[in-house]
Amino acid sequence: MNIPVHIGIIMDGNGRWAKKRFMPRQVGHRQGGENLRKLAYEVEKLGVKYLTVYAFSTENWKRPEEEVSFLIGLLREKIQEYIDDKDKNNMRINCIGDLTCLDKKTQADIEHLKQITKNKTGLQVNIAFNYGGRGELIRAVKKMYNDLLKTNLDVNNITEGILEKYLDTSGIPDPELIIRTSGEFRTSNFLLWQSAYSEYYITDKLWPDFNKDDLMEAIKKFNERERRFGGRK
Ligand code: IPE
Ligand code: IPE
Ligand code: MG
Repeated sequence: MNIPVHIGIIMDGNGRWAKKRFMPRQVGHRQGGENLRKLAYEVEKLGVKYLTVYAFSTENWKRPEEEVSFLIGLLREKIQEYIDDKDKNNMRINCIGDLTCLDKKTQADIEHLKQITKNKTGLQVNIAFNYGGRGELIRAVKKMYNDLLKTNLDVNNITEGILEKYLDTSGIPDPELIIRTSGEFRTSNFLLWQSAYSEYYITDKLWPDFNKDDLMEAIKKFNERERRFGGRK
């Protein structure tokens, strides 16, 4: 079986998971966070190198303040947990997105976690927080523009490869497979540039219920796809 090097997951359905159990949405988010911990181990065991998970989109600020602050608090808690557990696994943990929305302490903890796990050789987990593909492109273009001014690089020499260096995922291969839980057929602004040729797998399973068997099913379906990249068989 062909195992993708990079898998993306749109972890959707925490709210519906809680609603089905007549519980507050927060319980669903907490369960979703727990599921990520479990699933990351399964992903690593398969030999996948990169896992990028959508935890909070630039559009999720539209939600009630109470839910937004709960999600930020949950991220803080998880970062702390990953720091405490750093010797228990072989994962590199990184956050992508516009992290300047977070308080200085959380930003420092994220950087610290990245540094203390950077020499690990297992799975790299990228947690996309305050991430949106459009926002990422704007941030990339701004940084590239500043560098262009400094280096006098001719605008006509800009290539896809150059722009890619300014993306949050710089140096990471594009995801071959993107999984979306909870049945929605849309990208919701996730990895817009990087997903140009990703295979999508959509399941009705809600994120907190998505398990190892579901992961294997997604990879099996991925293996059945004929990837042409615009060419011909
Ligand atoms: C995904 O679960 C987590 C975030 C978007 C933060 P949702 O909160 O979107 O759950 P549903 O879609 O309402 O079920
Ligand atoms: C996408 O889910 C974002 C995350 C999973 C973090 P949403 O629940 O925000 O997406 P929409 O609103 O259904 O498109
Ligand atoms: Mg949702």
